[in-house]
Amino acid sequence: MTILLTGGAGYIGSHVLLCCLEAGHEVIVLDNFTNSSPRALERVHEITGRAAQLYRGDVRDAALLGRIFADHKVDAVLHFAGLKAVGESVEKPLDYYDVNLGGSMTLARAMAAAGVFRLVFSSTASVYGDAEVMPLTETSAVGQPASPYGRSKLMVEQMLNDLCAADPRWSVAVLRYFNPAGAHPSGRIGEDPLGTPANLIPYAVQVAVGRRPALAVFGDDYPTPDGTGVHDYIHVMDLAQGHLAAMRYLAEQPGHHLWNLGTGHGHSVRDVIHGLEAVIGRPLPHEIAPRRPGDTAQCWADPAKAAADLGWRAERGLPEMLADHWRWQRDNPQGYGA
Ligand code: WQD
Repeated sequence: MTILLTGGAGYIGSHVLLCCLEAGHEVIVLDNFTNSSPRALERVHEITGRAAQLYRGDVRDAALLGRIFADHKVDAVLHFAGLKAVGESVEKPLDYYDVNLGGSMTLARAMAAAGVFRLVFSSTASVYGDAEVMPLTETSAVGQPASPYGRSKLMVEQMLNDLCAADPRWSVAVLRYFNPAGAHPSGRIGEDPLGTPANLIPYAVQVAVGRRPALAVFGDDYPTPDGTGVHDYIHVMDLAQGHLAAMRYLAEQPGHHLWNLGTGHGHSVRDVIHGLEAVIGRPLPHEIAPRRPGDTAQCWADPAKAAADLGWRAERGLPEMLADHWRWQRDNPQGYGA
């Protein structure tokens, strides 16, 4: 198949790109490199021996999207391009609605105009808000996402739901990611956050590699076994395979489909710290800090629906995620920058 990856140079996008190329698909990447590096594409080419066709630009550029669909007979679109920093979204909500919601609207219009109706959308477990009951299934109530980032993702989900109800030609897979972590085992591609990492594992590995003095543990007084937040970390390679499985499913099934992509296992912040210490073979400097506004005590998936529908399950556990994430950071202390 010929696949368009918007945001294909990003953390998730580059790993999905690698898996698409290894599966023999022709791939086009659209990326504006505001939160990614062209080096990721070079590294994917180095690993797979195959290259994607790159269009440098913004998913909100309707004319550029029109050119892409005119130049290529695209069979499916995997839509990663978007802003994803929870804290930043509180400071710059308009940017988040413009890129995440506006960009998705522009993309859907360009797809329909080109007769392309197969779309996989990168969503998030943040749409569940501060859910009490675990594990989270696809029928768990979506709550009040705690940030403009989470709300923008929920709005796109609702827009795609309405689109499928209005036009039966659409085949849409909404994938709610839990906590992506890890890297391709080669250590050549990985997560390279701009500025200060907001997420636990990228911050912790920057401490381990010496870029930061210590990890702040945001609260140890949650109602959890060890008092720290419990989340469902999923290996980015498992996540990538989930995208290919969803894309295959859409080839047979029109309509609107929704899956949680998680492992079904929750791990605490302390589990992550101890796991990383086992990988690096030394203590990880950390200190207890106040809770972070918007955080939830616990969040993990029930992955049964994806297993039943897609025949897909996460296969990699926390130790492998931490070993692979560390290998990437150790071999690339400055990410793609150096
Ligand atoms: C995990 C745990 C923190 C940093 C968010 C988004 C979600 C997705 C993943 C984009 C929590 C604790 C964290 C730190 C810490 N984003 N923590 N010190 O908040 O579950 O999810 O990122 O796709 O949509 O909501 O992930 O890694 O930020 O936090 O103690 O420096 O680590 O309190 O318990 P989160 P996270």
